[in-house]
Amino acid sequence: MIEGREHLCNDCGQCTAYCPVGAAIHNGILAADLEKTSMPSSSASKTIIQALKQRRSYRSFSSQPVKQSDLEKILEVVGYAPSGGNNRFLRLIITKPETTKKFLELIAQWFDGDCRTDPVYGKRYASKIDSILERYRAGQDPILRNAPSVVFSVGPKTAVWGSVESGINLTYFNLVAETMNIGCCFAGYATAAAKRSWEVRELLGIKEDEECFSAMCFGYKTIRAQRIPTRRLVEFKTV
Ligand SMILES: Cc1cc2nc3c(=O)[nH]c(=O)nc-3n(C[C@H](O)[C@H](O)[C@H](O)COP(=O)(O)O)c2cc1C
Repeated sequence: MIEGREHLCNDCGQCTAYCPVGAAIHNGILAADLEKTSMPSSSASKTIIQALKQRRSYRSFSSQPVKQSDLEKILEVVGYAPSGGNNRFLRLIITKPETTKKFLELIAQWFDGDCRTDPVYGKRYASKIDSILERYRAGQDPILRNAPSVVFSVGPKTAVWGSVESGINLTYFNLVAETMNIGCCFAGYATAAAKRSWEVRELLGIKEDEECFSAMCFGYKTIRAQRIPTRRLVEFKTV
């Protein structure tokens, strides 16, 4: 820390991460006492790359809710996701199966009501609403895919990087979950309803000055992907 610039510290702990002799202290913990990093071996590197490629949007869940201990393992890692200025403005709301069920009913109500005239989602979902509602009324779940739980990333409406950070947080969540036979699927309809429907916001406890930036269904898997579908190379140019 440069003397006189202590007020610029964002509490990220980089000083302890890089101190070559483990002399720095952060939050009262000596660098030398922190968990050590390691260089991934080439086989670990292959495993990580394989895991990234074989993540799939998952849509066939066991009804069994994810165990608290598994959830805690996932959330511990989500805490390591990058956050602008290390601000960590966001919080997660996670539904239990009974709340997920109520939530689904409220999304259907929203689809059949205010969504139709919503300036953004009315147009976006116009061609889908009736077929979604038809399937929902026939006992299917094209919205949450019968997931036992949904995780919402929520934060102050004023959080400039809220959408970006939510995407990163939930991607971390998704990737760790995959290692535990837990599948995830980003949930656009759920996000839209949690942005717009007051009934949904009340159910989830989203405050008036908060925004729901992103949502994702998750639960234990019942089937396993056998192959990795191809993806085109992301367009890029060097400048
Ligand atoms: C922001 C976002 C919203 C999404 N919303 C939904 C959704 O509401 N329902 C759904 O089944 N899949 C949803 N998906 C999953 C995409 O359809 C999926 O990522 C895409 O088909 C590619 O498949 P993959 O993730 O298995 O590679 C969403 C994905 C993202 C990133």
